[in-house]
Amino acid sequence: MRRFAYPLLFLSVFHQLLLNARLAAAGAVAVEYLYPNFTASSLLFIDTGGVFLASRNGVFQAAVYNPGAQQSRFYFSVLHATSGAAVWAANRAAPIPDRSGLVALTPLGLAVTSPSGSLLWSTPPLAAPAAALRLLDSGDLALLDARNASLWRSFDHPADALVSDQPLRAGANLTASASDTDFAEGDYRLAVTPADAALAWGGGGGSGWAQFWSLAGDVRSAKDRNAPVAYMAANASGLYLYAADARVVFELPLPPAPLRILRLGRDGALRISSYAALNASAALGGDFVAPSGPCDLPLACGPLGLCSGSSNASTCACPPLFVASHSGGCELAANGPRLLSSSNCTTDDSNLSYLGLRAGIEYFANKYAAPTTSGGDGPACRSRCSGNCTCLGYFYDNSSMSCYLLESRQLGSLFVSSSSDGSNPAGYIKTVQGSPSNANGRNSSPPSSTHFVAILLPSIASLLLVAMIAWMGIHWWRSQQKKQMRRSKPQAAAKEFQLRWQKSPAKNSDYLDSNIDDDESDDVFIPGLPTRFTFAELEAVTNNFQTKIGSGGFGAVYKGELPDKTLVAVKRIDAVGLQRKREFCTEMAVIGNIRHVNLVRLRGFCAQGARRLLVYEYMNRGSLDRSLFGSAGPALEWGERMEVAIGAARGLAYLHSGCDHKIVHCDVKPENILLADAGQVKIADFGLAKLMGPDQSGLFTTMRGTRGYLAPEWLTNAAISDRTDVYSFGMVLLELVRGRKNRTDCVTDGDSNDSSSGSWSGSGGGGEYFPMLALERHAERRYRELADPRLEGRVREEEVERVVKVALCCLHEEPALRPSMSAVAGMLDGTMGAAEPRVASLNFLRLYGRGFAGSASAIRAANDLFGGRGGAGNPTGSMTSTATTTSESPSHMSSQQVSGPR
Ligand SMILES: *[C@@H]1O[C@H](CO)[C@@H](O)[C@H](O)[C@H]1NC(C)=O
Ligand SMILES: *[C@@H]1O[C@H](CO)[C@@H](O)[C@H](O)[C@H]1NC(C)=O
Ligand SMILES: *[C@@H]1O[C@H](CO)[C@@H](O)[C@H](O)[C@H]1NC(C)=O
Ligand SMILES: *[C@@H]1O[C@H](CO)[C@@H](O)[C@H](O)[C@H]1NC(C)=O
Ligand SMILES: *[C@@H]1O[C@H](CO)[C@@H](O)[C@H](O)[C@H]1NC(C)=O
Ligand SMILES: *[C@@H]1O[C@H](CO)[C@@H](O)[C@H](O)[C@H]1NC(C)=O
Ligand SMILES: *[C@@H]1O[C@H](CO)[C@@H](O)[C@H](O)[C@H]1NC(C)=O
Ligand SMILES: *[C@@H]1O[C@H](CO)[C@@H](O)[C@H](O)[C@H]1NC(C)=O
Repeated sequence: MRRFAYPLLFLSVFHQLLLNARLAAAGAVAVEYLYPNFTASSLLFIDTGGVFLASRNGVFQAAVYNPGAQQSRFYFSVLHATSGAAVWAANRAAPIPDRSGLVALTPLGLAVTSPSGSLLWSTPPLAAPAAALRLLDSGDLALLDARNASLWRSFDHPADALVSDQPLRAGANLTASASDTDFAEGDYRLAVTPADAALAWGGGGGSGWAQFWSLAGDVRSAKDRNAPVAYMAANASGLYLYAADARVVFELPLPPAPLRILRLGRDGALRISSYAALNASAALGGDFVAPSGPCDLPLACGPLGLCSGSSNASTCACPPLFVASHSGGCELAANGPRLLSSSNCTTDDSNLSYLGLRAGIEYFANKYAAPTTSGGDGPACRSRCSGNCTCLGYFYDNSSMSCYLLESRQLGSLFVSSSSDGSNPAGYIKTVQGSPSNANGRNSSPPSSTHFVAILLPSIASLLLVAMIAWMGIHWWRSQQKKQMRRSKPQAAAKEFQLRWQKSPAKNSDYLDSNIDDDESDDVFIPGLPTRFTFAELEAVTNNFQTKIGSGGFGAVYKGELPDKTLVAVKRIDAVGLQRKREFCTEMAVIGNIRHVNLVRLRGFCAQGARRLLVYEYMNRGSLDRSLFGSAGPALEWGERMEVAIGAARGLAYLHSGCDHKIVHCDVKPENILLADAGQVKIADFGLAKLMGPDQSGLFTTMRGTRGYLAPEWLTNAAISDRTDVYSFGMVLLELVRGRKNRTDCVTDGDSNDSSSGSWSGSGGGGEYFPMLALERHAERRYRELADPRLEGRVREEEVERVVKVALCCLHEEPALRPSMSAVAGMLDGTMGAAEPRVASLNFLRLYGRGFAGSASAIRAANDLFGGRGGAGNPTGSMTSTATTTSESPSHMSSQQVSGPR
């Protein structure tokens, strides 16, 4: 009853106001407060451009605003005064059609009416009569009651933008505007959920939303803790997702700026503009834009347009058989089959046909979307699409048997996948009344399964193979070292152990200087250099190197305390043949400027004479191998292991793609993952592979020290890339699951003085090569059995499954098939579904694990090279076969088996 009466009440009040409108003092802009009964229109405030209220600091204004100065859509808005940007709009769905429409403040609240007097928008019924309207310095527009308590505020009803310190609650959305001059709700939204903040494309028509970006999945963000997200807000130092207790869950650091305007653009991109002052008239350059790639937007190239390229250079084309459409995007040529939409749909199978897309063409949403079904075959996927009018096409991934139905109001853009080896899912677009799909001879039957002849070879042949691989490996290392010596040549850079995609100019001039012995000049100056200590200072800090807390491939590590009482770890690099000082300092500047919550921070360094020391933040729980493999103390609980996995993955993802210089770690292993109280997980020793001198056998030491984590490409002449780290990380993930080394021989590592790291600590000393066991249990879907027996079942089976699947994907022999580190992080934290491992690219594990059984020396050779344990020994000795219940419903599986970037 009240609901019905309410607009009528408003209207009767407005009729009186309309009569009085002419009497209102036109043009005088109120400051901070307005009181009932007040009316404003664009006409009444034509001198101020519709502005009728300003905040006390003058930064924000309330106005009757017509974006783009068109004359048919006026909105009750809040503007940023100096830039003129609209940060809020009330009547998005119902604009005022001309200058005389009114915005009115009465005791009933705020209302917008058309010139004819019909109600276009109003605040909901208020709990008490409104006594004032206040525009706060923050940009919040609030209705206050007689006691100044807030009755309603615009910050609770955001449109397409947020300003600094404006919270967006979990469950709330920003919705993009239809265009720059029409604030009607468009097809994109930014939604904050208890887990994340995500961009999605969809809109009306009742069909689904396709997610195409999420903050948690963006490598530029970092997760600080595990807690449900309560709200999102930007402030002067970045964008944050907060828990209900106002502590940070996710952070996205941004360059400091007193004012930010975060806007969901009409193209679907989220842009954060920063202003150097509250009253700055233009934003600083360098907006944060998400998603970062131009091809990642749903309509990057219009419907069915094919986007290719990366960063800021992208091009649009049409896929084969398609022609450019006059309305943007691509369409089928006029005389061929015709596309279907959900409006002119038919489910009559005899009429439908599917147009196959060329291999390597992917759909924008498949990067993030979960497959609609998993486990069925291609024809099942097709018939699912045929039977549903909302389905406009589908992608089917042979290797993971994942089926992605394309459902939205229309089809979005396609993009050229970066891995063009035909391993991508095959795409089909639904058409009608055309010839059957025949595009480009795509072979829709599964490729004939690869035969791994080597498995069938007698062990003698295997032995030969191993010897050959070993010889190749050594040969490659030798040639590599020669290349290192000629590192000033640009082509040598391609295989440097730490790969740099960008070289700073300082670096290049450095090469030119290389004849000058700058070792004794202490005045090397490189911008951004971290604190430089003298050797004497570090002697004092470490109390004359008294407390040794570890040793790694580069030298011993000592505990120290800086004069300000902060604890540090001082690493003394004892290797000879180091780089010259300038080169070293360049590296320090790079490493010292890398800040991420999951990366150990370099506090300073010392380069004095031949001495090289690094000063790191102190991590009180030491490296992961101690907690994970150590027999002292309780086993690391499953929850902690998940935190370690996610944190380490995020740290590596940042090294690979989050910072200016792409850094391949090259030595990912539990010894280089450090833990501290409060669940801190940090990657150590990144950027150091570069410090090794060219003439150093140290590289070989490193290699020996990390066998077990070495990707196959180390042994072939294939390029070392970030995917090499992904492989090593996959090994670490399996060790996290099992709680012991994958490489189970007890040979003391030359570089590891930590006696616990090489030893067994799980129950039982035998067992198969664990990665192979993981592969077998994966095939049987018996994941629980893989978990560390010491946990006695205190694991979450779905998480074990997820970690094992991700780990196996990381181990794919073909580097291009391994997910990127950011995808790994996303899959681990559940923001992306776990991809389905491709067994064909994992059979080499069987080769290493089983193929050498029966030849002790071959086992040893294999161990040395691959960290594998031969098949000898009791395969079940260490298994506590816990009862498993892996009966998964298809719906459960589909949420688990999402395919990440391929
Ligand atoms: C505003 O207008 C309404 C309706 O005419 C009237 O009842 C009310 O007293 C007015 N309030 C003020 C503060 O003038
Ligand atoms: C409400 O705020 C205004 C402006 O600050 C002030 O003048 C007024 O006294 C306040 N009223 C109450 C009841 O606090
Ligand atoms: C945000 O969008 C979702 C999905 O459409 C919807 O269920 C939810 O109600 C929206 N929230 C708000 C506050 O509009
Ligand atoms: C922004 O918020 C974060 C998280 O609450 C906080 O650590 C930081 O100090 C804030 N920045 C400023 C400038 O207030
Ligand atoms: C911004 O404010 C400062 C002082 O408050 C003033 O000096 C400056 O001129 C203002 N800038 C603009 C663009 O209004
Ligand atoms: C990409 O952007 C950078 C700076 O943002 C610019 O220097 C470069 O020229 C751009 N490249 C292309 C191809 O537009
Ligand atoms: C179905 O509708 C779409 C757009 O609404 C149109 O492009 C297409 O040609 C139609 N198909 C048929 C078979 O009529
Ligand atoms: C078609 O697909 C939509 C979205 O997945 C689903 O909600 C609907 O039930 C399906 N309709 C039929 C007939 O299967």
